[in-house]
Amino acid sequence: MEKISFEGKVVIVTGAGSGLGREYALEFARRGASVVVNDLGVARDGSGSTNSAADAVVEEIKKLGGKAVANYDSVATPEGGSNIVKTAVDAFGTVDVLVNNAGFLRDKSFTKMTIEEWDAVMSVHLRGAFCVTQPALAVMREHNYGRIIVTSSTSGIFGNFGQSNYGAAKMGLVGLMNVLKLEASKFNVHINATAPTAYSRMTENLIPPELAPKLQAKFNVPMVVYLCSEECRENGSIFTMGAGWYAKTAIVCALGACLGDGSRDIPAEEVRENFDKIADLTGAKPLHDSLAIFELMGPLLK
Ligand code: NAI
Repeated sequence: MEKISFEGKVVIVTGAGSGLGREYALEFARRGASVVVNDLGVARDGSGSTNSAADAVVEEIKKLGGKAVANYDSVATPEGGSNIVKTAVDAFGTVDVLVNNAGFLRDKSFTKMTIEEWDAVMSVHLRGAFCVTQPALAVMREHNYGRIIVTSSTSGIFGNFGQSNYGAAKMGLVGLMNVLKLEASKFNVHINATAPTAYSRMTENLIPPELAPKLQAKFNVPMVVYLCSEECRENGSIFTMGAGWYAKTAIVCALGACLGDGSRDIPAEEVRENFDKIADLTGAKPLHDSLAIFELMGPLLK
């Protein structure tokens, strides 16, 4: 089996000081990449900061004989994002791969959630992806190559009690990916989303501890490594994973029911009568972009 190599490639992993990010960074380095280990070193709820999280992973990579440099900026500001990318360019000359992974939780049921809890979580996950991806894409565009990952979550894709801020941010990342898959492919930059599951400090009070050994963060790494490889052509997809299980996950559109002819008014009662057909997912499929819905709207086809 020919090995997937990152020799000569420059990889940024945000939030690489612990959990999933640390595992990604170590594996990219093992495979020859020069790695920027970004981490603000915050607590589980995003408070505080320390350089030691990023430093420890850089140290680990260097002990393995790999190449790495630390960055301690927050992903959630434009200055931080620019500086993370600048760290890669200054140390290694460019950026080939960006894994947007940094984040934290502020769980609360929706009626009790404060605007601060909402903003903090939206900021690190969604704004963070904007702040780092925009300068990274500018560099990738210059050399006509790049691979980007956004880290989504089953909490957004499918729902999870008490995580309206987090779920909204994580689904926002899917929206970002859906647009960038169109805009960035012109520069040979592919972007995909992952929805990992791992027993980490983020999930230690959400996942039953007896599942911990089978839900190790390292089991999510192979998917991210393959999606970020030069040979992988995938663009604009979501992959759900955990415990060594990997599955493409998609937003689909049903075939639906065409009740109108493009001119006749349609009473709500007709929707009621046809609701089973409208809601039937048999034959549902993902769409390439928003214009593709025109191909499903019966009256437009006549
Ligand atoms: P973790 O808490 O172990 O790691 C997150 C890292 O991000 C921490 O080292 C933290 O210091 C860093 N970070 C937080 N805010 C930052 C900021 N503003 N700038 C830079 N770094 C910052 O969590 P874990 O589990 O490894 O999660 C990694 C990613 O995977 C997150 O985006 C999370 O939402 C996502 N995820 C994790 C799941 C899981 O089952 N562990 C499930 C679904 C998604």
